[in-house]
Amino acid sequence: MANKSILVTGGAGYIGSHTVLQLLLGGFKTVIVDNLNNSSEIAVKRVKELAGDFGKNLVFHKIDLLDKPALNDLFSSTRFDAVIHFAGLKAVGESVHKPLLYYSNNIIGTVNLLEIMAKHGCKKLVFSSSATVYGWPKEVPCTEEFPLSATNPYGRTKLFIEEICRDIYCSDNEWKIILLRYFNPVGAHPSGYIGEDPRGIPNNLMPFVQQVAVGRRPALTVFGNDYSTKDGTGVRDYLHVVDLADGHIAALNKLSDLNIGCEVYNIGTGKGTSVLEMVSAFEKASGKKIPLIMAGRRAGDAEVIFASTDKAKRELKWSAKYGIDEMCRDQWNWASKNPHGYESSDSN
Ligand code: NAD
Ligand code: UFG
Repeated sequence: MANKSILVTGGAGYIGSHTVLQLLLGGFKTVIVDNLNNSSEIAVKRVKELAGDFGKNLVFHKIDLLDKPALNDLFSSTRFDAVIHFAGLKAVGESVHKPLLYYSNNIIGTVNLLEIMAKHGCKKLVFSSSATVYGWPKEVPCTEEFPLSATNPYGRTKLFIEEICRDIYCSDNEWKIILLRYFNPVGAHPSGYIGEDPRGIPNNLMPFVQQVAVGRRPALTVFGNDYSTKDGTGVRDYLHVVDLADGHIAALNKLSDLNIGCEVYNIGTGKGTSVLEMVSAFEKASGKKIPLIMAGRRAGDAEVIFASTDKAKRELKWSAKYGIDEMCRDQWNWASKNPHGYESSDSN
């Protein structure tokens, strides 16, 4: 697929920006569409710089997926070999309060994209699904065959979009679709030049920890220390964002196979790490003490979840290279160089 032209929706965001960099370095021509709802164009500028000579192969368009005519114009002017579809809203708590916003943005946005892709004969897609589709799994590791369930509107958008993808493949076997179920992406590019920069109060563990470390928040609230886990705190499968980005290149390569159909892969490390283990690894990497406040469980949280990675290893030839020490090292490198994210940067 190298030298092919790839559309990346949501490419200015956290996972998207890291993936776009790997695409450029792999020789792909890359076009980003993003409405910048949860991201900054500075990320795009930095990706271009990090890509060196390959940076010239990156084009950015500020387009909202709900603006179907704008998407259609883009596909009329540019031929894409495949689309990697990251664009979506992802805050679980917000989705509970604003379900229609999530259904509209995530589902209608995706349906618009798929319609325009079909109209222009571009039928190769990699979609960002999530381990959230396993709900509260009865056992671990989660294999791709586990029953699916959603515990909130955000999760339901992922479930519905997975089903939509299966339906369009059934209706038209020319489609080749890979659904990647990510576990918990953390860390940043080792340069410390791009990373996660959430708007408002972070929902996720590591962005919160990072803001405590740089003095933006006084303490981390630990949601539950009475789970049946090694230290009582929740266990997750944390995954370096650069490994995740590489998983997308592996998925794109897989799309060249004949008869791939609509396939799903877990993208995780297969290892479970508790909240306290993660905090301790971050303290070691940063030399900063993270004050903790022990609190009750967060509604909707699973106790333990981690991936079976066999299928991705076998069929995508992909597995994670980095462990939690590297994740925390790179998270801290990014945080210490950009304590207020992109907007405070001198090199805007
Ligand atoms: P992010 O918010 O950093 O990136 C998403 C990007 O999509 C943002 O740049 C945002 O501006 C853009 N966007 C949103 N709605 C849009 C629209 N209608 N039109 C155009 N652009 C739009 O999030 P991320 O962490 O990079 O996540 C990327 C994808 O991966 C999302 O679909 C998310 O649900 C999924 N995912 C993320 C995680 C995680 O923990 N980060 C886990 C599993 C799955
Ligand atoms: N946690 C805290 N304090 C915080 C934030 C999180 O103790 O301030 C704990 C949680 O209770 C959980 C663990 O840290 O035990 C990880 O929580 P995250 O919010 O970082 O991650 P989740 O696994 O709950 O959810 C994330 C995304 C979902 C996605 C899922 C699987 O938010 O959208 O990973 O990919 F679906």
